[in-house]
Amino acid sequence: MDLFRKLFRFCLIYGPGRAFVKAVGRTRWTLRLKLVLSPFKRSDKFIAVVGCGQFAFSTIAFFLTKRHGECIKVALDIDEKAVNTFSACYGADVVLTNPASKFLLPDVKLVYVASNHASHTDYALRCLDAGIDVYIEKPICVSREQYEALRVAILKAQSKVYFGYNRPFSAAVKELKKHIKPTAFTLNCVVMGHLIPEDHWYREPAEGTRVCGNLGHWIDLSWHLLNCAGGVRFLDILIAYSNIETPDDNISVVLTSDRGDLITLTLTAREEPFEGISETIIFQQDGLFVKVDDFRRASFQLGHKKFNRRYWPKDVGHQKAVSQPFDGDTRNVSEVLCSTELMLEIMEMVRANKASSRFDIDGKL
Ligand SMILES: NC(=O)c1ccc[n+]([C@@H]2O[C@H](COP(=O)([O-])OP(=O)(O)OC[C@H]3O[C@@H](n4cnc5c(N)ncnc54)[C@H](O)[C@@H]3O)[C@@H](O)[C@H]2O)c1
Repeated sequence: MDLFRKLFRFCLIYGPGRAFVKAVGRTRWTLRLKLVLSPFKRSDKFIAVVGCGQFAFSTIAFFLTKRHGECIKVALDIDEKAVNTFSACYGADVVLTNPASKFLLPDVKLVYVASNHASHTDYALRCLDAGIDVYIEKPICVSREQYEALRVAILKAQSKVYFGYNRPFSAAVKELKKHIKPTAFTLNCVVMGHLIPEDHWYREPAEGTRVCGNLGHWIDLSWHLLNCAGGVRFLDILIAYSNIETPDDNISVVLTSDRGDLITLTLTAREEPFEGISETIIFQQDGLFVKVDDFRRASFQLGHKKFNRRYWPKDVGHQKAVSQPFDGDTRNVSEVLCSTELMLEIMEMVRANKASSRFDIDGKL
């Protein structure tokens, strides 16, 4: 009963097509999704997908197939069921289960990496080294060593790199950015995250904590908005832990800047929201007040003018993020590198149960 109620709610939030594919991704029925998503489109198969879990299934491959038809040539995942069902549904020709196998076949022009967090950098390095364009799902790395290797590779690569930090691509944030001014602002983000079991891979020490897994989106969005508002020289970071035993489940991170910005990011995971993750943003600046409710609706106040927006289907920016290689609307490389450094700083603080630190921006951009 709950399953049907959830499916019905998902249809209202994401539209019937995406809700259906999300359900197929969870249950892994094997049916050719091209017949549902893009029955008449023809496409050359030129994409490889590494990591064929729920996100690759219900978001990356969903939007790629809708746009291009059957375009995925290679699917790689260490889990046989995941990769076999993924390729059966999306029509991949080559199915690989060994991370060391050669996934950069001659026809492959673009690779989407959506595996476990610790493996993103290595896969991306292999693509960049071979001169193949790569889309790296968040986080793009989980350690300083990975960060440095990736930064160097990106700067000298001939191929292009795209990042899966998608909140800046959401319609609500795009509208907010039209009105933002180069002055200090207050930003409050409350993220009701998934309840993650103790043994979930997100919690393995090598995977970079929920700071890399979840909070990174919000750190990146904060950094993006700071840049849109003219940039800052340093950020003071304060972290409040609700429970030092599980330091990354229910925490607030406060960022203040040299010019008086105030950003509060709260990740709370005490109860699973019925529809999955739920996010609220409140943004306030001289002459501008914006409230975003779960990327489904938003209200904007510009001076004395007020208007509301509804977003259906819910728009967290996934479609535009996945489409970066085709639309030319891409994330700025140095901005994402810098937001990643900030994320790593906060991850290290959480690991050390540290409460305060300063993040200097000078020289980082
Ligand atoms: N941008 C977003 O809004 C968003 C939302 C959800 C998930 N994600 C990201 O997508 C990625 C996948 O998350 P998910 O929710 O699909 O998790 P998932 O557990 O459903 O899928 C991960 C898949 O990666 C596979 N895998 C693990 N190690 C591998 C390796 N070394 N090589 C190849 N495959 C490997 C697993 O077998 C699994 O099938 C993560 O980076 C996650 O942070 C992004």
